[in-house]
Amino acid sequence: MNTVLEVRDLCKTYIVNKRQNNVLRNVSFTVNEGEMIGIMGPSGSGKSTLLYTVSGMDKMTAGEVFFCGKNMSAMPEKELAAVRLEDMGFIFQQMYMMKNLSVLDNIILPAVKSAKNRESNKKIEQRGRELMKRLGIEEIAGNDINEVSGGQLQRACICRSMINHPKIIFADEPTGSLNRASSEEVMEELTKLNADGTTMMIVTHDVKVASRCGKVLFIVDGNIKGDYTVDSSANSRDRERSLNHWLMEMGW
Ligand SMILES: Nc1ncnc2c1ncn2[C@@H]1O[C@H](COP(=O)(O)OP(=O)(O)O)[C@@H](O)[C@H]1O
Ligand SMILES: [Mg+2]
Repeated sequence: MNTVLEVRDLCKTYIVNKRQNNVLRNVSFTVNEGEMIGIMGPSGSGKSTLLYTVSGMDKMTAGEVFFCGKNMSAMPEKELAAVRLEDMGFIFQQMYMMKNLSVLDNIILPAVKSAKNRESNKKIEQRGRELMKRLGIEEIAGNDINEVSGGQLQRACICRSMINHPKIIFADEPTGSLNRASSEEVMEELTKLNADGTTMMIVTHDVKVASRCGKVLFIVDGNIKGDYTVDSSANSRDRERSLNHWLMEMGW
């Protein structure tokens, strides 16, 4: 089993008004290829910060992160940016789409910008359209970003996160702004992607969403308080029930 992400003693400290806030304290864990890891924990416990630092979007204060064996802590920013663009996908609510581009152009932007990608723009556009079709939003390809619903926009974000065939996708509350039905559909797609081999790290408050993961980490005050392996042989209702039970033990 190949290791995609190895996190060792990761610390992240923010300094605001000369006050230190130790948001992540010696966090260590490993993500293997093909895994789907759920991250849960109270609001403010450091879940988003964890995604930002392990993906190199934000600098770590101490510790080491290895991505496919490469030490990201020692990587120059230019190289980090290329890794993020070419090998990682992001589904972050606060990562807004470009307002002056159509939905399709937003989706294909990471591929157009990739120096590694030798495809013609026509080929990239075709792949973008195929992804949109797969997510059921092909009809909004030419729309402006503000002409689509929340659920459609979230699906568009998923398309964009997939366009460069990333090794890992980081998702921060991917269903946070969706109703139950859209949430189920989006999770269905993410689960399929994972089944096709894409490794995933998903922050969520939703037990239903987390119960689709193979493993769940519970974060409290910037530490992993516990981890839980979901019984993949159980049906969805039993997985949810056992996960709920464990979360209650964790003080959820
Ligand atoms: N850019 C930042 N600057 C300063 N403090 C931050 C920043 N981002 C997050 N924090 C602080 O880090 C803590 C954890 O935040 P966050 O990772 O967003 O938690 P979660 O996603 O679990 O709700 C909070 O106390 C928050 O105020
Ligand atoms: Mg958060």
